[in-house]
Amino acid sequence: MDRTYDDYKELINQHLMDFIPVIDNKSISLYDSMKYSLTAGGKRLRPVLLLAACEFSGGNIKEALPYACAIEYIHTYSLIHDDLPAMDNDDLRRGRPTNHKVYGEAQAILAGDGLLNTAFEAMYKDMLLYFDQPDQMLKRVKAAYEIAKGAGVRGMVAGQTSDIESEEKDISNEMLEYIHINKTGALIKAAIMAGLSLGDPDADMTERMERYAENLGLSFQIADDILDVVGNAEELGKNVGQDQKDHKNTYTSINGLDKAYERLDELSRDALKAIEDYYDNAEFFANLINEMKNRSK
Ligand code: IPE
Ligand code: IPE
Ligand code: MG
Ligand code: MG
Ligand code: MG
Repeated sequence: MDRTYDDYKELINQHLMDFIPVIDNKSISLYDSMKYSLTAGGKRLRPVLLLAACEFSGGNIKEALPYACAIEYIHTYSLIHDDLPAMDNDDLRRGRPTNHKVYGEAQAILAGDGLLNTAFEAMYKDMLLYFDQPDQMLKRVKAAYEIAKGAGVRGMVAGQTSDIESEEKDISNEMLEYIHINKTGALIKAAIMAGLSLGDPDADMTERMERYAENLGLSFQIADDILDVVGNAEELGKNVGQDQKDHKNTYTSINGLDKAYERLDELSRDALKAIEDYYDNAEFFANLINEMKNRSK
């Protein structure tokens, strides 16, 4: 694995619009609003992880592109909806006014609906190409299943529900971690598991990478909570101090910054431990977790 994060990211950015259907002129605002949020930027973490995990397990990353783009469509929809006035009520995202600020709430909801469905359209269309190659078809069905599971009511949507319901309440650390694991961790884990499904991992690699993914997923949201306190809007492309404004329960609001950094360290160490046997070619994944930690300092 010689490719860097930026190599994968560039590939995603080149192909991100490939699976967005050309839309009838009568629905052009749908196309415009979807494209607006997709092309606003973003780290592309989930599709990068999907491609990297695919390559790590011996798969072909060009063939993984429909799944990588699909997971970024789902993630982008989740951000559009997360920013709506009824949810976190944010007006800056990826360095631009949020989708509903530009297109209005109704269209922002529909842009999210459009992105979610296009994700599945892209994956099903790809699967259809392999209907006469059951082994290839199975890999793709597994990848789509991982993505659907992580994004849906057993993952991200469940976490978002508990996040909203917990506003202004006292919750335990256990509940907080349940929220974080689901609202953010589940899609990050899905990216890695889907990428592996498209390759050819052995059982040990699947198990180790699953543990890595779970640690990365939870620590990513803890880092996001920290950055909402210590980060700056220009670098993040979103406003800071939003969690306090929304009376959110976050790792920092419940435990304070020092404990948040400690938990981040602990999770990163466990993530690294899970893959250290593979260190020869797992450098990409080791670097990623270290960079995430450094970003939140
Ligand atoms: C933001 O995700 C929402 C969270 C799950 C914390 P990212 O930090 O990956 O956002 P983008 O894609 O880079 O904009
Ligand atoms: C978002 O968590 C998780 C999603 C599923 C979008 P946050 O609400 O903390 O994400 P930001 O800080 O707005 O990016
Ligand atoms: Mg939120
Ligand atoms: Mg938010
Ligand atoms: Mg946040």
